[in-house]
Amino acid sequence: MPATSMDSLVNLCKRRGFIFQSSDIYGGLQGVYDYGPLGVELKNNLKAAWWRAMVYERDDIEGLDAAILTHRSVLKHSGHEATFSDPMVDCRKCKSRWRADQIKDGKCEKCGSADLTEPRPFNLMFKTSVGPVADEDHFAYLRPETAQGIFCNFKNVLDSTSPKLPFGIAQIGKAFRNEITPKNFIFRVREFEQMELEFFVAPGTDDEWHAKWVEARVAWWRAQGLESGNLQQYPQKKEELAHYAKATVDILYRFPHGMEELEGVANRTDFDLGSHSKDPQELGLKAKVDENKDSVVKLTAPDPATQKPLVPFVIEPSAGVDRGVLAVLTEAYTEEKLENGTERIVLKLKPHLAPIKVAVIPLARNKPEIVEKARQVKDLLLKLGIGRIYYENSGNIGKSYRRHDEVGTPLCVTVDFDTIGKGEKPELADTVTIRDRDTMKQVRIRVAGLAGHIAGYFSAAR
Ligand code: GAP
Repeated sequence: MPATSMDSLVNLCKRRGFIFQSSDIYGGLQGVYDYGPLGVELKNNLKAAWWRAMVYERDDIEGLDAAILTHRSVLKHSGHEATFSDPMVDCRKCKSRWRADQIKDGKCEKCGSADLTEPRPFNLMFKTSVGPVADEDHFAYLRPETAQGIFCNFKNVLDSTSPKLPFGIAQIGKAFRNEITPKNFIFRVREFEQMELEFFVAPGTDDEWHAKWVEARVAWWRAQGLESGNLQQYPQKKEELAHYAKATVDILYRFPHGMEELEGVANRTDFDLGSHSKDPQELGLKAKVDENKDSVVKLTAPDPATQKPLVPFVIEPSAGVDRGVLAVLTEAYTEEKLENGTERIVLKLKPHLAPIKVAVIPLARNKPEIVEKARQVKDLLLKLGIGRIYYENSGNIGKSYRRHDEVGTPLCVTVDFDTIGKGEKPELADTVTIRDRDTMKQVRIRVAGLAGHIAGYFSAAR
């Protein structure tokens, strides 16, 4: 069970270049974060693991990358314009604003006053003007979820790839919400990324598919290193469900600030495809009309039994990338007491998520033969295509190991005098040491067998 504090994570993330406050040099933009040199690798690795599980390992899911800027009609049809809001209250004393459902004991978190306004809905969508005229007729929304891009491209994907029900469309991308109180580091932010699957099924099979996807998603998070004791399933109560959902199971994780939602798996029924097939004139909107049918584009697929068109139901596992990054960091962060009385911080990330896969360390940086050999070893390992291989030239082996423990590098390969045949043991020429992050054990191996050894390690660790 992680006993990691948020402070130690925030500290490590800044110190080692994982995550920074955005616009920091100008005082920071609240609820917005930037991913640094190691953070971008970790985040990309998490996204790649999701994409692999969803798109590459299955034959019933296609990928998509839809635009962020979204036509107003899309979010009017989807119900977001009318209902995508949180209840907000104002503190009459200090003028701060809060989410009504997160207020503790009916008091303002800033000044403690109980003199609060009645809750009123606050729409979370960001608007931006499009084109040179900035007025009410020329704006788009920044999408509040990636899902709508999938629903709007449903017919395009169906026509171009001819899948049969059940099938899915997967997408990873940015979403934006003007959260009233962003907090807990990257847990609740205003700009974030989602990994969303819309899995279309025949009506009547939706409950069964919903249960299957909850199970599959919990198993996937476990494969990213999250312990089962830190994961929980929470079926939402009726009054908690989003406007589109018939049932939702939240997958919760034990974050440093508490057990909170990491992913939601919703049964969205035929709500979205149905809504986008509605006559836009009902909503006072324009939409593309199917020229052959003189009607609105109908988002249907053939019924697997009768081949007649039906509006599929959809099961949606929707995970937050940033919350995923926070969860794997929380789980991996470990402070260890060593036998010699010293302490180390080690990030026990699963190897496929580690930002740096292997650090190659020349023992002496002023010995050209050692440096050249280390460079050759780096190039050799780079060809494996397993991810970032880091040439670590700090000159202090102890410090290098500590640094790589802290950023989660699973293996360090050291090139020394023995490697170049100038050590005390000539029989060790053309060998290197490999140090394991978690056990700190070192083994000596021939350079000729190094690539095979490292490739074997990373494929076995998946
Ligand atoms: N398409 C469904 C949907 O967007 P959601 O429960 O609102 O459902 C899905 O969001 C996931 O997106 C959440 O489980 C969470 O991981 C992530 N998420 C939502 N709002 C977020 C925020 N403000 N900051 C970070 N992640 C967020």
